[in-house]
Amino acid sequence: MSLAVDPRAVESLLAFWADAGVEASYADQPIDRLAEGAALLRARSQPPVSTPVARPVLVSGGSADVTAAVARARASAAECQDITALAAAIAAFDGCPLKAQGARQAVVSRGPVDAPLMIIGECPGPDEDAAGRPFVGRSGQLLDRMLKAAGLTDRAFITNTVFWRPPGNRTPTAQEQAICAPFLERAVALVKPRLLLLVGGASAKALLKRDEGILALRGRWFEWTSADGSQELPALPTLHPSFLLRQPASKKKAWQDLLTLTERLDRPDRPH
Ligand code: URA
Repeated sequence: MSLAVDPRAVESLLAFWADAGVEASYADQPIDRLAEGAALLRARSQPPVSTPVARPVLVSGGSADVTAAVARARASAAECQDITALAAAIAAFDGCPLKAQGARQAVVSRGPVDAPLMIIGECPGPDEDAAGRPFVGRSGQLLDRMLKAAGLTDRAFITNTVFWRPPGNRTPTAQEQAICAPFLERAVALVKPRLLLLVGGASAKALLKRDEGILALRGRWFEWTSADGSQELPALPTLHPSFLLRQPASKKKAWQDLLTLTERLDRPDRPH
């Protein structure tokens, strides 16, 4: 028996879900990822039956939980000797609450692992979550066109402040960024870029520990310092391509920033 489905009813139902913020469907039946995440966290919070090993961190947002998760991230990142190992360690890490909030997979990086430039965006979106690679959606395509125009294609290692897509495409919290930071710092140590390009306000504020908005920060050089002070790099904040898609008149400012960046990147090292 075949069911007659009215295409207009399907269209109307899809429009209803799109209005409600559901912009992707990956399976025939809906999966309640929030319930899955809550069950995972509940299971993790159960004490082990007999073996007195350390309990995995339950990250509820409390500062002790965050501190413990950061310490675990730092220990895990320190063991990684290359970007492949780092990506595997991130994928295996369960200390960031974003992982249990509906993300499909960890999104770590793309681009040469010895690039002279590291681009740090905010967080993966739905396209990145599906593909497992950063900046592959509309804003990523704009970023790629801008990098090409500036002669920076294949000269940038691209990553984000957090490695899992926040639910509903919200901005990552300072805690989520802090928990992911040791992995990001390890990526900087392994890639050894000469410069950082911080894309968007959430990236610039987290990396530079500043409160100003991106319009005040963009286009100026800052010194980024790792948590332990062992790494320092010049960092340039710029506008996020998703902002440029909404405000095309601002592309001129982003272009000026890219020129500022390439001028420094290609400047010959001065003798001391
Ligand atoms: N926006 C970001 O900040 N990062 C991505 O990877 C995609 C969109």
